[in-house]
Amino acid sequence: MDEAKLNDFMGKLVSDMGGAAMLASVILGDELGLYRAMADSQLTTPEALAAKTGCNPRLVREWLNANAASGYMEHHDGQFRLPEEQAMALGIEDSPVYAAGGASVIAALFHDKDKLVAAMRGDGALAWGDHHPCMFGGTERFFRPGYRTHLVASWLPALDGVVEKLKAGAKVADIGCGHGASTVVMAQAFPASRFVGFDYHAPSISTATQRAQEGGVADRASFTLGTAKDYPDNDYDLICYFDCLHDMGDPVGAAKHAYQALKADGTVLLVEPFANDTLDENMNPVGRLFYAASTFICTPNSLSQEVGLGLGAQAGEARLRKVFTEAGFSRFRRAAETPFNLILEARK
Ligand SMILES: C[S@@+](CC[C@H](N)C(=O)[O-])C[C@H]1O[C@@H](n2cnc3c(N)ncnc32)[C@H](O)[C@@H]1O
Repeated sequence: MDEAKLNDFMGKLVSDMGGAAMLASVILGDELGLYRAMADSQLTTPEALAAKTGCNPRLVREWLNANAASGYMEHHDGQFRLPEEQAMALGIEDSPVYAAGGASVIAALFHDKDKLVAAMRGDGALAWGDHHPCMFGGTERFFRPGYRTHLVASWLPALDGVVEKLKAGAKVADIGCGHGASTVVMAQAFPASRFVGFDYHAPSISTATQRAQEGGVADRASFTLGTAKDYPDNDYDLICYFDCLHDMGDPVGAAKHAYQALKADGTVLLVEPFANDTLDENMNPVGRLFYAASTFICTPNSLSQEVGLGLGAQAGEARLRKVFTEAGFSRFRRAAETPFNLILEARK
């Protein structure tokens, strides 16, 4: 036993426990509007913040202390300040790096612990719809900033000839659309096109329909309950999967269905969590986050469906290429990437 290594590891573990506790504090601050109330990056006292948000001053002070000890805030003589950079991540919902909303996904992992114990002792299955409700809104808020920032500005332009079709009027399917964050972003940018979101989770379809109304695109974006292998029509110009193909039990079956649903010159846009091809290459903070989430969410969902391929959230480009090749697609390439996503294009 090497005592120095033990101390190093205990330090890491204490830091991780602090991180987990802080994430609960982030969720609290997001729900109570505490970060939003500090998003102007001005100095404030606990009492002033408590008065502004209608919260208990003593608890607000403790929460501020935790944020200061975590490096989330600055403190000066009993006053606290949320720096501009932290405000972008925690207090400004429209910012491209807003992360506080997505923290609820991590909360769901704790809520669902008993279900995971049962799945791990059993057949490994836990369906998407059986998670704690905070999973669904959390997922929407986790991914939406990325779609708003990248989808129209860089991901769609990285595909061969797709933006021209969308401008002229294309037919688009968004498979596994969840709350429709990606569908609404695309529909807002391309009014001449028609978008249909499909998902097998009925409550998500209702929320997505509401989001299309709120986003002013209900005339061109609609949502229908259905699986990735049974949606209708065979004249799509673009079929998209946003962070969902690896969640499916039968991704090859889904890709085969897309093959027959696409026009001859149609395109598949596959957005997946960023991953390299091997575990050794994924030893980084993004790999750590996605492997852990995949243990609780993506892999058990896949195991709950027919085939149960269990790709996991860190499948990587080579494994995803194999899925599309097996489904009959002849072209598959990485069109773009961000630190969190691979953007892949498949053509017939
Ligand atoms: C991680 S969520 C992503 C949701 C959405 N695309 C987004 O980016 O916010 C995965 C989604 O895939 C859906 N899903 C999983 N398996 C499916 C299947 N076989 N057919 C249709 N939808 C499926 C789930 O219901 C869930 O909404």
